[in-house]
Amino acid sequence: MKIHNFCAGPSILPTEVFEEASNAVKDLNGSGLSLLEISHRSHAFVEIMDEARDLSLELLGLSGNDYTSLFLQGGASSQFLMVAYNYLKNEAAYLNTGTWSKKAIKEAKLYGKVDVIATSENENFNYIPKYDISKQYDYFHCTSNNTIFGTQMNSFPSTKTPIFCDMSSDIFSRVLDFSKFDLIYAGAQKNLGPAGATLVIIKNDLLDNIKNNVPSMLNYKVHADKSSMFNTPPVFSVYVSMLNMRWLKKMGGISAIEEKNRKKSEMLYSEIDLNPLFKGHANEVDRSMMNATFNLCYDNFKDSFESMLSEARISALSGHRSVGGYRASMYNAMGIDSVKTLVEVMSELESKI
Ligand SMILES: Cc1ncc(COP(=O)(O)O)c(C=O)c1O
Repeated sequence: MKIHNFCAGPSILPTEVFEEASNAVKDLNGSGLSLLEISHRSHAFVEIMDEARDLSLELLGLSGNDYTSLFLQGGASSQFLMVAYNYLKNEAAYLNTGTWSKKAIKEAKLYGKVDVIATSENENFNYIPKYDISKQYDYFHCTSNNTIFGTQMNSFPSTKTPIFCDMSSDIFSRVLDFSKFDLIYAGAQKNLGPAGATLVIIKNDLLDNIKNNVPSMLNYKVHADKSSMFNTPPVFSVYVSMLNMRWLKKMGGISAIEEKNRKKSEMLYSEIDLNPLFKGHANEVDRSMMNATFNLCYDNFKDSFESMLSEARISALSGHRSVGGYRASMYNAMGIDSVKTLVEVMSELESKI
C-alpha cells in the first residue's frame, strides 16, 4: 500500500525516476557497467552531465549564451559562503525570511559588510517583509521559498543590483521570469533529485567579476571553465537529477507542474481555513505552494490525529522544531491523491468534534 510521503527533504521523486535510476545502478544503458563504476570523464557520463546542465537551463527558459549551469557539491549551505566569497566586495543586501536566510547572512558576514534590509523574525517568519533596495549593492540575496516556515516570495525586485536567490525548495515548481536573476542555487534534494548535488545557474558576465584569491573549489569560474568537471562530480545525484528533469520536460515543463502544484496547495489550504481544528502558520498572501505549515488548535485532538495519519499511511508530516505543529511538503512529484488523503483525514477529525 502506498505511503504518502510529505517529507521536506530529501523527498519524493517520480516512481519512474526511481526505477530508471535503480536500473542504471545495475547496468547503465546496456553497457554492462554500473553508473557508479564508470569514469566521470567517460563519454557516457560526460553526456549525462551535459544533458543535466542543458535541461536545467531549458526548463528555466534560460538556454542561450547568457547563463551557465553548474552541478556542484556541498549543498545549498556551501553556496551561503560561496556567493559571498566570490562576490561580496563592499556591501551586500540580504532579506531575512527564515532559518536558511539567517544562515546565509551568518556566512556572508565572514567576508564583508551585510545589510539586512528587512526581516520577518518578529513574527516567527510567518510573512515576507516589504523591502527597498535603495542603493547599489554588490548583490541582493533572498530565499524564494522558506521551507521551514512555509512562506514564499511572490515577486522579485527590478533593480540594477544583481539578484542572487536560494531556490532550494521551490526550483522548477512555478513559472517566474528567471532572467531577472543573476545567480540561482538549489540543493538537489527536493524538486531536483537525490541529495549530493547543488545546482547553480549563473549569469555569464558574473564569471568575469570574481574577487581575487578565491580557492579553486570555491571559485565559480573554475567550475564553469571545466564544465562542472573540475573534480569528481556527485555522479549518482547528477544522473538522477537529469532523469527527473527529463520527466518534468515530458510532463509539460514548469507551467504544467505549476498548475498541478497550485491545485494541491489550494486543496490543502482550503481545508486548513475551513476546518476549525486547524490554523495555518503563514500569512495567507505569502503562503508557500511547496510547504504548508499549520497547527492543531486543540491539543486534545493530537493523539487521534496522529493515529489517523498513520492509519492512512501519511508520513513525515511533523513540523520543524522552530514552528511546531505540522508541515506538508508537496513537491513536484507528489500526486494530488496524497494531498486528497491528507485532507480527508483532517476533515474526518473534524467530524469527531
Ligand atoms: C531553502 C533552503 N536553503 C538551504 C537549505 C540547506 O540545504 P543543504 O542541506 O543542501 O545545505 C535548505 C534545506 O532544507 C533549504 O530548504
